Amino acid sequence: MLSSEEVLQMRRDYLMPCLGYFYKEPPVFVRGEMQYLYDDKGKKYLDFFAGVSVMNCGHSNPEITDKVARQLGTLQHVTNVYLTQPVVELAKRLSEVLPGNLHNSFFCMSGSEANEGAMLLARIYTGKRKFIALDRSLHGRTNLTMAATSIPMWRADPFLPEDFYFVSHSPGETLSELESILRKDSDIAAFIFEPIQGNGGIITPPDGYFKEIAGLLKNYGVLMICDEVQTGFARTGKLFAIEHYDVVPDIMTMSKALGNGIPIAAFSATREIAASFISPSASTLGGNPVACASALAVLDYIEKHDLCNRAKKLGALLYEKLLLLKEKYSFVREVRGKGLMLGMELTGEGKEPLPAKTDAVLEQLKEDGIILGKNGLSRNVLAFQPPLVIDEADIEYLAEKLDIALKNS
Ligand SMILES: Cc1ncc(COP(=O)(O)O)c(C=O)c1O
Repeated sequence: MLSSEEVLQMRRDYLMPCLGYFYKEPPVFVRGEMQYLYDDKGKKYLDFFAGVSVMNCGHSNPEITDKVARQLGTLQHVTNVYLTQPVVELAKRLSEVLPGNLHNSFFCMSGSEANEGAMLLARIYTGKRKFIALDRSLHGRTNLTMAATSIPMWRADPFLPEDFYFVSHSPGETLSELESILRKDSDIAAFIFEPIQGNGGIITPPDGYFKEIAGLLKNYGVLMICDEVQTGFARTGKLFAIEHYDVVPDIMTMSKALGNGIPIAAFSATREIAASFISPSASTLGGNPVACASALAVLDYIEKHDLCNRAKKLGALLYEKLLLLKEKYSFVREVRGKGLMLGMELTGEGKEPLPAKTDAVLEQLKEDGIILGKNGLSRNVLAFQPPLVIDEADIEYLAEKLDIALKNS
């Protein structure tokens, strides 16, 4: 077996240098079991990041992997010009659980690809070219989705298309900025947004926010594309985060937790919008039987184990614990989020971001056997996005160790 130093060196030697990593001495993970990870030295970690909101149903969950293994041993792939059962079952199942009248789906491989496809569909349906996104957004790494991404560190391409407007994510400003764009430019196909901005720092809009936006967009015939790549599948206490806002988007995108570690993504739209997508399109691996079997098993698991309520209940407990720490430490500026998608922003006396402190907290927690995430424009927001199968004792343990880490770092 390779040592962790050798793995790190080979990563530096053979992968592209654009790929960053957390920790000065990153652990090499060799095994996962529900909310726990194990490294090559046998050390156990409580996972509080879930591979960026992917492993909502837990690592190597046997109720899911058994079904995936059965499909893997039966039929792996034929591509979607042929008929298979799992993909139609999944599409039907999604139409039953998606908000409102979202009905037809297109399956692909990643969140970026789903958002790219959603924007293509919006252009085809409306015959319009441009898009509006929120500042602090992240929608992907393809050309169009990177152009829809406002976070500077995720805009690597120096030649991005200029078909995008960005409006403030601040509740008091979004609406008026949107309206002034819509008044002067009639070539807008869609507004694309994350209901809770993940990479932007768990930015959580107030109740009513998206309803006002939806009303305005409707007046101008502009579609709403809701990016649920990070927020979907019970993470926030509802199956989809937009349900907290009582709004039905025109197109919704999803990935990550849909496959619980198996690559799958989709964009879904109303029958009317989907009907406009008649020019040929296909994704070689999209709707692959193994990925669809995994997604069906995920939906079964979420329902059977009531993960929405679990995320809501445990999220409330975690929120309470984090608020106590906010009262205790002046550098904890804000705790925000919904369900088990929570963020804790660290800032100094002059409200300046504290990314070094954030890193120090992560390092300390790693020593204590806890894997935590971070995000935000200045990388100063601790991100709590565990598998939804954690329990109260896990939250107690995290809160206790976090308290010490905040004090000492
Ligand atoms: C909200 C959101 N949209 C899109 C993406 C891109 O997804 P992927 O990395 O699967 O292409 C991400 C990835 O973190 C995301 O958080």
